[in-house]
Amino acid sequence: MNFSILQKQPKKDQLFILDNEKSISQIDILQPNEASYAKKALKNNQSLVTINQYNRVLFLYLISEKDTESQTLEGIRKTGANVQAITNKHKIDTLAIVSLSSKLNAAYTLAEGIALANYQFLKYKSDADKSSNTLQHISFTKESVTVKEVEQLSVITAATYHTRTLVNEPLAYLTAEQLAKEITTIGKEAGLKVTVLNKARIVKEKMGGILAVNRGSILPPTFTIIEHKPKKVLNKKPIVLVGKGVVYDTGGLSLKPTLASMDRMKSDMSGSAVVTGTMFAIAKMQLPLHVIALVPATDNRPGEDAYVPGDVITMYSGSTVEVLNTDAEGRLLLADALHWAKRYEPELVMDFATLTGAAAMAVGNCGIVCMGTADEEVKGKLRESGDRQYERLVEYPLWEEYAEMLKSDIADMKNVGGRYGGAISAGKFLQHFTDYPWMHFDIAGVSFNTTASGYHTSGGTAYGVRMAVDFLMHYAKN
Ligand code: BES
Ligand code: ZN
Ligand code: ZN
Repeated sequence: MNFSILQKQPKKDQLFILDNEKSISQIDILQPNEASYAKKALKNNQSLVTINQYNRVLFLYLISEKDTESQTLEGIRKTGANVQAITNKHKIDTLAIVSLSSKLNAAYTLAEGIALANYQFLKYKSDADKSSNTLQHISFTKESVTVKEVEQLSVITAATYHTRTLVNEPLAYLTAEQLAKEITTIGKEAGLKVTVLNKARIVKEKMGGILAVNRGSILPPTFTIIEHKPKKVLNKKPIVLVGKGVVYDTGGLSLKPTLASMDRMKSDMSGSAVVTGTMFAIAKMQLPLHVIALVPATDNRPGEDAYVPGDVITMYSGSTVEVLNTDAEGRLLLADALHWAKRYEPELVMDFATLTGAAAMAVGNCGIVCMGTADEEVKGKLRESGDRQYERLVEYPLWEEYAEMLKSDIADMKNVGGRYGGAISAGKFLQHFTDYPWMHFDIAGVSFNTTASGYHTSGGTAYGVRMAVDFLMHYAKN
C-alpha cells in the first residue's frame, strides 16, 4: 500500500470525512439530488454513504462519537474496513481522502483501517491475480494529514503486513532457521542489526529450555538477536523485547487433541512476529531508543528423542525444571531468553507470547492478558497505548500464591501450575527468570483469526504491534 499527499484537488474516487450532515454542502462535486440523498441517509443513522457518479465513486463518512475516544477511533478504523470492501466492488485502485472533520487524526485513523483491511497473503494461491485486492494507493488532501502521519502510516502498515505474513507462513516453509532468515531480511530493510545463534552456539551456551523443546524435532533451533541502536539514544540501559518463536506447537508428547485446534498452531510464533514488526517500525521511524529483541525459536513435536513428561531439565539460568507437560513449552524457551536479557541490565523487558489457552479463555479475542513487575507509571502508559490503538490490556496479578503451584518435589520448579489460573502460573514461571522491570503479554487469544473481522484479516492479526510501537514512540518523547 502506498500513501501520498496531494498538491491539487483530487479528481477520481474520493472519501469525505464529516463531523455533521451540514458539511455536505462544502462538497461542490455533488449534484443537488445526490447531496439531498446523502443528507437523508446520514440523518437516518447510516454512517457511510457511497455515491456512484459516472466516472468515479464518492464516499461520505459521518464520524460518530462514542463514549470514549478509544471507541471512537476504533469505529473509524472499522469503517475503514468497510470502505476497503467497497473498493474491491468498484475496482478502485486509488482513493483520495478529504477530511472536512475537525478531528485531527480522523484521516489517519480511517486510512489505517483501510490499509490494514487490504492485507492479503496470496503466496500459495495459483490465481493470485484474480483474488488480489484492487486498492493500491491512498492519497490525502494537504489539509487532511501531516507529513509525519503519512510516514507513520506507511511504517505501521508495512510492520503489520510483515508480522501477519510471518504468522501466516506454515511450518512447511517457516522453520526456526527460516524464521531467523526472514527476520534478517526484514531487519535489513529497516537498518537493524540481526545476529542469529545456531544450534551449536545454543548448545555451547547450555540453553536447556530451548534445547529440551527442540529434542523431538529434526530441525535445529535458532536464537535471533535484533538490535536497534541509533547514534542518539535517550535510554542509558536498553529496552528488551522477547518473542515466543514456536514455529509449530503439536504439544510434543503431551500431544494436543484436535479439539484444542492444533490446526492453528503455526501461529505459535506470533510473539516473535510481533517483536519483529515492532523492531521494524521503530527502526524505520528512527526512534532515539536503544532496543534489543530476542527470538528463541523451534518447533515442538514428538520425535524419537523428544523430551518426555517427567523429565528434569537444566535451564540456561541453571535452575532445574520438572517438565510435567511438554505442551507448556513456550515458557521454557522464553525463560532462556529472559535469562539472556539480564546481560544488558535492561531498563524494561517486554515479552510477547501465545503462551496459554487460559488467557484466550479468559478474554477471548478482545484483548491481551498482561502481568509484570514494571512500575505503575509504565503500566499506565502501556494501558494508554493499548486503548489508543485498541489493542487493549487486562492486567492479572502475580500474587506469590501462584508460585506455590509451581513447586516441584524433585526440581526447583515444575513447568505447569494447576488447573486454575493457568495464564498467571505461566507468567509466574517466567518471573522466576527475571531480575529487572518486566512485562509479559499473553497474546494467545488475539494473534490469529480463523475468519476476518473488521480490519483484522483472517490468519495472523499482528495484534500487539501497534500497541508496542505506540508505547515506544511515547517513551521516546518523554
Ligand atoms: N501455544 C499454546 C497456547 C495456545 C493455546 C496458544 C491456544 C494459542 C491458542 C501453549 O504452548 C500451550 O499449549 N499451553 C498449554 C499450557 C498447559 C499445558 C499448562 C495450555 O494453555 O493448554
Ligand atoms: Zn504448547
Ligand atoms: Zn505453544
